[in-house]
Amino acid sequence: MRITVLTLFPEMYENFLQTSVFGRAISRGLVSVDFVQIRDFAPGNYKHVDDTPYGGGAGMVMKCQPVIDALNSIRTDASHVVLTSANGIPYTQKKARELSQKEHLVILCGHYEGMDARIETFTDEQVSIGDYVLSGGELASMVIMDSVVRLLKGAIRDESISEESYENGLLEYPQYTHPAEYAGMQVPEVLLSGNHAKIREYRLRESLRLTKERRPDLLEKRVLSDEEIRLLKETEEDD
Ligand code: ADE
Repeated sequence: MRITVLTLFPEMYENFLQTSVFGRAISRGLVSVDFVQIRDFAPGNYKHVDDTPYGGGAGMVMKCQPVIDALNSIRTDASHVVLTSANGIPYTQKKARELSQKEHLVILCGHYEGMDARIETFTDEQVSIGDYVLSGGELASMVIMDSVVRLLKGAIRDESISEESYENGLLEYPQYTHPAEYAGMQVPEVLLSGNHAKIREYRLRESLRLTKERRPDLLEKRVLSDEEIRLLKETEEDD
């Protein structure tokens, strides 16, 4: 997979690209990343990429010409262009999975108070990483890149993904590692038992408990199996 980021701040990505899962995915050849400095496409000595908004109002707006010329410099038929914006559709694990199938993912990072609305027509979609406003799209693009690249085959172990939060519509069960007792707190007995059927059931029950407590909206959206209905009842009896 190839990822191209269009940004005014490519230097923000240096450490991110070298670190952990992402760095490994690059060195394994699973992904290549390149940057386009939008300012390189702005004319004149001042290289202005923004201007005041028509109709008045606070802040500056990114201009069409430098952004669209930057986009056209790298766009091919295989490109899928995502614009980061607080006005976008909510970014989810499902969207990460969808983007991980693309041959060439292009992420256009918004900046200033926004972009000229006509830029949107040159993109495939607009996504928001949450209900809050960032100063620019760079952090949002890193969130998208991280969540996409870890889904590429060979980036991390397949089992790690299938058991994660959101992959099955539930939050992930709690995890523990050595020692079995820390500051007076014990690791749940069942996890030390070696009984795999019991461990699986315990984990599913705890996933259901956490999801009900913290993200009841996820439970409402999900069709529960008979086993899940039974385990959820058990958590209600515990309370
Ligand atoms: N740019 C500013 N806020 C954003 C958000 N919440 N998500 C994506 N891009 C943004």
